[in-house]
Amino acid sequence: MAYILTGTALSTDLATIRAKDAPIDVFRTAVHRIGLHLASATLNALPSRSVNVATPLETTTCSVIDGHVVLVPILRAGMGILDPFIALCPQASVGFIGLKRNEETLEPHEYYRNLPPSDPATTFIVLDPMLATGGSMSATLSMLRPLPHQRLMAACLIAAPEGIEIIEREHPDVALFCAAQDRELNSLGYIVPGLGDAGDRLFGTL
Ligand code: PRP
Ligand code: URA
Repeated sequence: MAYILTGTALSTDLATIRAKDAPIDVFRTAVHRIGLHLASATLNALPSRSVNVATPLETTTCSVIDGHVVLVPILRAGMGILDPFIALCPQASVGFIGLKRNEETLEPHEYYRNLPPSDPATTFIVLDPMLATGGSMSATLSMLRPLPHQRLMAACLIAAPEGIEIIEREHPDVALFCAAQDRELNSLGYIVPGLGDAGDRLFGTL
């Protein structure tokens, strides 16, 4: 199931990151702010449990995130939205999947995998700014599926309809949070209108 975020503060920052002439510092800080919206929506959807907390005045019951959260940025570009998720969930563990899309076949090639231990109460949240064909996200969710976990979630900045359809078809149990859904993929597999190559814009490799 895909959830597309809305809001004026969010759309203002989306305008900033789409602009082809945005300098790298402006691009990065806007990606960070959008990441905070995305992290808020995703983490607020997690189940909670009650705990007793002693305030300076009395003991009260509070709701806290239930279970262990493992954030999984897809290298490289997923690193661009890791910090906002850690800011809102500082107790999370972090695992890494390195994937590079072959620009001719559009198939993802795995070059790195380093995941922390998980357990039956773990929520994995996969992070990637761009959901284009959906191949990278789907492959990552399939790698995580055999590991002990309670739920799989995913978050991206910009999604193509084609990518959302693949995730909903291949991973119907996954809650997918997107800051924007764009029109389509072009013939080269880029999201349009999109923002271009997220990794290149985040890491200055244009
Ligand atoms: C980009 C992006 C996604 C992937 C999306 O990464 O960050 O991981 O492409 O495309 P898909 O939905 O068609 O699989 P890329 O492979 O260019 O690597 P990078 O993050 O190192 O730039
Ligand atoms: N990867 C990107 O970084 N951008 C796209 O538009 C598609 C895949």
